[in-house]
Parts: sequence; C-alpha cells; structure tokens
Amino acid sequence: MNLWTFIMAAPVVADAVSAATSTTAAAAGAVVDATTGPTPNSIPHTGFALVLDKIEYAIMVPLVYIAILFCLAAIILKIISIFRSPAQPYSLRIFPAARKPGLAALADTFAMPQVRRHKPVFWVFLMLFHTAFVFLILGHLDLFPNISLMPEDSRHMLGWGLVGVAVTLPLFYFLFRRFASPNREITVPADYLLLVLIIFLCLFGDLMSWGNSWTANGFVMTKQDFAKYFDGLSHFTFADPRLVLPGSHYHFAVIHVFLADLFFLVLPFTKIMHAFFAVPINLLRRK
Ligand code: HEM
Repeated sequence: MNLWTFIMAAPVVADAVSAATSTTAAAAGAVVDATTGPTPNSIPHTGFALVLDKIEYAIMVPLVYIAILFCLAAIILKIISIFRSPAQPYSLRIFPAARKPGLAALADTFAMPQVRRHKPVFWVFLMLFHTAFVFLILGHLDLFPNISLMPEDSRHMLGWGLVGVAVTLPLFYFLFRRFASPNREITVPADYLLLVLIIFLCLFGDLMSWGNSWTANGFVMTKQDFAKYFDGLSHFTFADPRLVLPGSHYHFAVIHVFLADLFFLVLPFTKIMHAFFAVPINLLRRK
C-alpha cells in the first residue's frame, strides 16, 4: 500500500473507535468530562471534518517520517560538504595555547567560558536551555513504551513538567534580547522566525505536559496514550493516532507535532546547525 493510500484510508475508521478509547482512558483515571458520553467523535465525519481528519493524519504520521528523514539526510549532506570544502587559508588558533587542546575545546563547547565572562545573564540562560534540551530529548524518548526513565504508570514526563519550563523560559529571553541594540542590528528576520517557531512548538508541548503534571485530572490524553502513538510510529504501523489519542484536545497534539515537523524540515538550514560544528570548530581554535 502506498503512502497516499494510507492517508486516505486511515482516518475513516478513527471515529468509530475513539469513543471506545475514551472509555479506556477514563478507566485509567485520566479522562473526565471532555471525552465521556456521546461526543462529536462518535459521529462519522463528513465534509470539512473528514478533510481535517486526513490533514491531521498526514501531520501525525507520514509527515513525521518525511520530516525526520529529510532532516537527517540534509544534516549529513551539509556535514559532508563542509568537510570536503578546502581548508581555510588562515589559522583560527587562539592564544595562549592550552596544554590539553582537546579538553580545552570540550570546555569551550560545553561551558562557554568566554560568554560567561562577557555576558553572564545570557550564559545562565544558555546553560539552562542546553541542559534542559538534553532532558527534553530524554523525556520524548521516555514516551516510547519500551523505554522507562519514569515509572510506566507515571503521568509525568521526565522532570515533572519542569523541563518544559527550563526550555521555554530561556527561549523568551533569547527572543527579547534580540529586540535590544546591538543584537537588533545583527538580527535577520529568519532569527526571529526560528525563535517564534520553537517557542510555539514548546508551548504546545508544555500545554500537554503541564496539564498532565499540574492539573487535578491531567491532560485529556495521558502519557500512556502518547506511548501508544509513539509505539505505532516506531513500528511503522501507519495506524491513525486518533485510535489511541481520545478527546478534542487531540488538535493540540497535532499542532505540536505539526510545528515539530516544520522544525525538523527547516533545522538543516538554520543556525541550529552550530550544534554539529561546535566541537570541531573549537578544536580548530585550540589545536
Ligand atoms: C514528532 C516529534 C514530536 C512529538 C511526536 C512530540 C510529542 C510530544 C508530546 C506527546 C508531549 C507531551 C507528553 C506528555 O505530556 O506526557 C510533548 C511535550 C513537549 N514537547 Fe514534544 N514532540 C515532538 C517534538 C518536539 C520538539 C522538536 C520539541 C522542541 C524543540 C518539543 C518540545 C516539547 C516540550 C517543551 C514539551 C513539554 C516538556 C515538559 O514539560 O517536560 N517536542 N511532546
């Protein structure tokens, strides 16, 4: 079956079973008013609602694969092209020379001592963001059913929602610091756009995770529901996520994943690529 057949076929069956999944989730103690009783989900979708189902399915399944594959391929091509380009004719070396250049390069990359000296507030937010980002990746990996960094029955993401705070707050700082001189003069529209994209991406993730961790009944979809969706993705079942993600809050998950898809598609062409070159460039400066 080709990709288009999957897109056309999968959402049609979604509505018939979403009421059943709502009941299962309610039994788990997490879904209360929003999904119980006869909901619009149990009525077969037609017209615009059906089109929306198909768009949402495309965002939640095929586009995730396409975006991640595209991102990986473009990153690999970019790294190859940079390593193949002629060496720079001048030295990037900084002095005084370090006794252990390898260690110094790692310290420059991960502790950013020059930023700490000249822009201490920026440094604090940079460290917070990058450390939290590592935990954010682990938190997403933990949503796969066979990875259990948090107990399987826990409704909290890794960090109990605090990882979301630690990633999102610095992003606002990174955006607002660009409004002030001298950063404003060296900022191009793409810098603002990238930050706004990541801020909204994170805010929609926060919405779900903070709901699950910090509200009485949790978000309508639980972490265990998300695990079923991630399981389908990792096993390439091409099943409609609607079968396992009950409730109308599903649209928030779709927006989060749509922004993540966009993020993966643009990442190889943005400044985020610095992440892949930070260690080699610091090695050039130190060796
Ligand atoms: C296709 C890729 C992605 C999927 C399917 C996905 C899915 C999710 C889900 C389901 C949650 C809520 C989990 C819960 O409450 O139990 C979440 C949270 C979150 N996501 Fe994503 N996400 C993706 C990519 C990303 C990316 C690329 C970023 C940021 C660059 C991101 C940022 C966040 C944040 C900040 C949270 C809240 C974390 C917390 O509070 O600890 N997500 N994501």
